Amino acid sequence: MNTLFNRHRRLRHSANMRAMVRETFLHTEDLIYPIFVVEGENQKNPVQSMPGVYQLSLDLLQEEMKEVVDLGIKSVIVFGVPAHKDEVGSQAYHECGIVQQAIKQIKREYPEMVVIADTCLCQYTDHGHCGIVENGVVLNDPSLELLAKTAVSQAKAGADIIAPSNMMDGFVVSIRQALDEAGFEHIPIMSYAVKYASAFYGPFRDAAHSSPQFGDRKTYQMDPANRLEALREAQSDIEEGADFLIVKPALSYLDIIREVKDHFPVPVVAYNVSGEYSMIKAASQNGWINEKDTVLEMLTSMKRAGVDLMITYFAKDVAKWLSEK
Ligand code: PBG
Repeated sequence: MNTLFNRHRRLRHSANMRAMVRETFLHTEDLIYPIFVVEGENQKNPVQSMPGVYQLSLDLLQEEMKEVVDLGIKSVIVFGVPAHKDEVGSQAYHECGIVQQAIKQIKREYPEMVVIADTCLCQYTDHGHCGIVENGVVLNDPSLELLAKTAVSQAKAGADIIAPSNMMDGFVVSIRQALDEAGFEHIPIMSYAVKYASAFYGPFRDAAHSSPQFGDRKTYQMDPANRLEALREAQSDIEEGADFLIVKPALSYLDIIREVKDHFPVPVVAYNVSGEYSMIKAASQNGWINEKDTVLEMLTSMKRAGVDLMITYFAKDVAKWLSEK
């Protein structure tokens, strides 16, 4: 009858038809689950702004890890919340720091688990900045030395991947050299290459007690308005030896994910950050949106944009939902 328009609806006719032409899939293997560890015993402190997320002491970590492993999740990223902070963040690279202990414990109990160490100083410094501060300025090169020290201590504890997130220039090459010199040339670097100075990190700073005590992070994290800068950052990190590139946050940066994926032939990781988690939690708790459908749509959009892996606080829920299908 008509040849004036195309009948796209033919391919949407039934659930099976839609499944046959579906282009993007989520897999449990795509998921990286963030874990917050604290000192002390029998601590399971709920993070107020992130319902369902807890700071855990090491004696309760085993239970959590068992759940993660049973759900089929292959990788976790560990954040430490130390009891003591100081000017130089010395707990970040202490041999018996909270993260080093947590990594050792996870690898002892679950040797197959791919343990990623977040390598930064902000949770460990009393001023809350990601590097050394002098006269109100975050210094670049002196911070690199401490970051490299932190990475080596995490590798010694058994970390499988080092994920530096402090956004100092040259952090990948500094860490690569330090790891190689310490005999860890086999340990990959998952760089937070493209990390924006984002308002979406608010709830995380609640979880990790890492708010800057003065100023903000805009002299080291990127301006959300910039696209080409993201490509320059990613390019440098690739040249310096990064094995994975992270784009963070994810939801407002799907265009950046696509560009990074198209430009660089390495696995790209989205960090589905705390604010993205809390918005969905808050709206769904109010009955305004359906949590499961929204989360699956959001993560599918990240994969469609080009990511290979996603760091997400929803990892356990998603693994459950995928296994129910
Ligand atoms: C530390 C760090 C931050 C996040 C991960 N590592 C926050 C920040 O830069 O203040 C944010 C993660 C999230 O919001 O989920 N540099």
